[in-house]
Amino acid sequence: MTEQERIMQLRTELHRHNRNYYVLNAPTISDREFDDLLRELQQLEGRHPELFDPNSPSQRVGSDLAGEFESVEHRRPMLSLANTYNKEEVREFYDRVREGLGGEAFEICCELKFDGLSISLHYEDGRLVRAVTRGDGVRGDDVTANIRTIKSIPLQLEDAQVPSPRRDVFVSADGQGDLFGGADGLGNLAGDSGQNPWPREFEIRGEVLMPWTSFEALNREREAAEEPLFANPRNAASGTLKSKQTAVVAKRKLDAYLYYLLGDSLPSDGHYENLEAARSWGFKVSEHMRKVRTLDEIYEFIDYWDVERKHLPVATDGVVLKVNSLRQQQALGMTAKSPRWAIAYKFQAEQASTVLREVTFQVGRTGAVTPVANMDSVQLSGTIVRRATLHNADFMAQLDLHIGDHVLVEKGGEIIPKIISVDMSQVTKERGPRVEFISRCPECGSELVRYEGEAAWYCPNDSGCPPQIKGRIEHFVSRRAMNIDTLGPETIEDFYGRGLIRNYADLYDLQVDQLSGANDSRIRSARKTIKAIEDSRQVPFERVLFALGIRFVGENVAKTLARSFKSVDALAQASLDDFLQINSIGAAIAESVIAWFANEENRRLVERLRHYGLQLQLSDETLSQQTDRLAGKTIVISGVFAQHSRDEYKALIEQHGGKNTGSISAKTSFILAGDNMGPAKLEKAQKLGIAIISEDEFLQMIGE
Ligand code: IVH
Repeated sequence: MTEQERIMQLRTELHRHNRNYYVLNAPTISDREFDDLLRELQQLEGRHPELFDPNSPSQRVGSDLAGEFESVEHRRPMLSLANTYNKEEVREFYDRVREGLGGEAFEICCELKFDGLSISLHYEDGRLVRAVTRGDGVRGDDVTANIRTIKSIPLQLEDAQVPSPRRDVFVSADGQGDLFGGADGLGNLAGDSGQNPWPREFEIRGEVLMPWTSFEALNREREAAEEPLFANPRNAASGTLKSKQTAVVAKRKLDAYLYYLLGDSLPSDGHYENLEAARSWGFKVSEHMRKVRTLDEIYEFIDYWDVERKHLPVATDGVVLKVNSLRQQQALGMTAKSPRWAIAYKFQAEQASTVLREVTFQVGRTGAVTPVANMDSVQLSGTIVRRATLHNADFMAQLDLHIGDHVLVEKGGEIIPKIISVDMSQVTKERGPRVEFISRCPECGSELVRYEGEAAWYCPNDSGCPPQIKGRIEHFVSRRAMNIDTLGPETIEDFYGRGLIRNYADLYDLQVDQLSGANDSRIRSARKTIKAIEDSRQVPFERVLFALGIRFVGENVAKTLARSFKSVDALAQASLDDFLQINSIGAAIAESVIAWFANEENRRLVERLRHYGLQLQLSDETLSQQTDRLAGKTIVISGVFAQHSRDEYKALIEQHGGKNTGSISAKTSFILAGDNMGPAKLEKAQKLGIAIISEDEFLQMIGE
């Protein structure tokens, strides 16, 4: 055998062992033997660089990536699913499907909803060619290099074959065996998929996950290294997959379950059958899918997994129900956002009981004071919880918390857990002291104030209270504002602590020697920081306006104000009436902006920013592109577009003086409609007699 032949043989063999180990959980050789084969391959490949193959089993260890991930358009958009927490809505879904299919019989494929991040894998001639994250559903990041390190994702497919008989069968608590899915005698085994060769070109989608055990090990490591912990396996998986260091990804032990096969020549009209075929080609497909016909069977599946999911090796947050026949899926079609043939039922968030030890108070950049509960640590949805937000004084008072109370904590999709109630069954006669909201700022001692109509208490000392000052600077440098990305919270803390900055204008006075000292690497990083600060002088006016941190002036309001007033001077002089002339600006925003500019100190800040050369008016280029072709028009965008993205259309509407709103009403001037406009919107538009304008017509209208 030549060395070239041996390389090919080793690659095939190692692909198979990988699959046996990571997909089928049934290794046929020892780890030691595997490592020996891999080492032999690596040595041979080292001698034959001309035979390099990115899909070789030796490439699963990874190397660093240069530059950014490439953003690529999905060949087929990655839609999301309609969600419900409610069984009644599952019935409504079932009824809608039945009606939609005109009484024709149908099957529903019940699956687990895996809680990771979705990925689209492309295969050509049996080889992985591209892996793309979901992104915004239309475009995602090309993360192929990282995906190659996930051992359960096949790089080279095997010829179709009957899957290994040994499977990881889930056994229910009552010892009755696997109730749902798997080789269970329910006729769900893919015994006949052996005849299905893979199509030359296809896409398969699924979820990248970090198993609980890997997640916990990773967090233990991070804790020891005093690195910030990941809140849950989904964040850990997502953070990992977006890492530029592919070798780090390889070490983190990600896994992937595939749940959706797409392509022009699939083996079957059945979704379930296609996944079984995919399993036979080497993909990891969940053993727990089940095909059913009745609503009762669907409920049974839901109830079973609501409990049993706690024993699964990976996080799940619900079940997904899909009409099985692709023909029927097509007949049902989709709305603008999601298919009509599928729905996700989400499990109720898990709750746990623990003891309240202390309530502390945090001051944010706006001065708002947030109460935080500190509790005995408790396991909740797989993570350890010690702190929970209490939102505001009213919420806290409603709970009637006493130190030492047992409290019920819940964690939904959000990272921050919340306290639901005091566990009254555990309250003793002698409760600890009642938790009261504070009256003075914990940071600077100022008396707190409450503004009319607002739930939060504020520290009014905005120019002297440290977390407010630092918070405003953090906001100023943030990505969507001035985008001075070398300045993180720690650096700001450091500069503030050394008395170098007291407000964001001070940033523009910083000198390299103030930041560095003699140390070479510090000089380099100081230069970088100064450069980033200088570069920010080119940031356009609307983002500067957002960066100022005026209450109620978020990104969108800043854009509207910039377009309407065109310069900071015009804005500073505007009267309440001037503001109210603008469509989307109400009294609260107007008063907040007026009050901000009435403050002497703020005006001084603006003068300093002007002096440093920041953009305090719209650029000539922006001004010259503005027209009033759409002045007075209120426009709803619906559907999928070919020539520009939705966001671009939004910007175009604004650029030409129009207003974009989300829902159709009698005030709507017209609808800018792409493909697949939602039927509900269509019906409403017709009822109200509102014109529907195509993409091309619209572009003509604005003279593009
Ligand atoms: S099917 C058009 N099946 O849930 C149907 N999705 O909001 C596409 N997910 O983005 C999705 N488990 O990330 C499907 N068994 C499963 C799933 C699943 C998890 C995720 C997926 C998707 C989101 C839907």
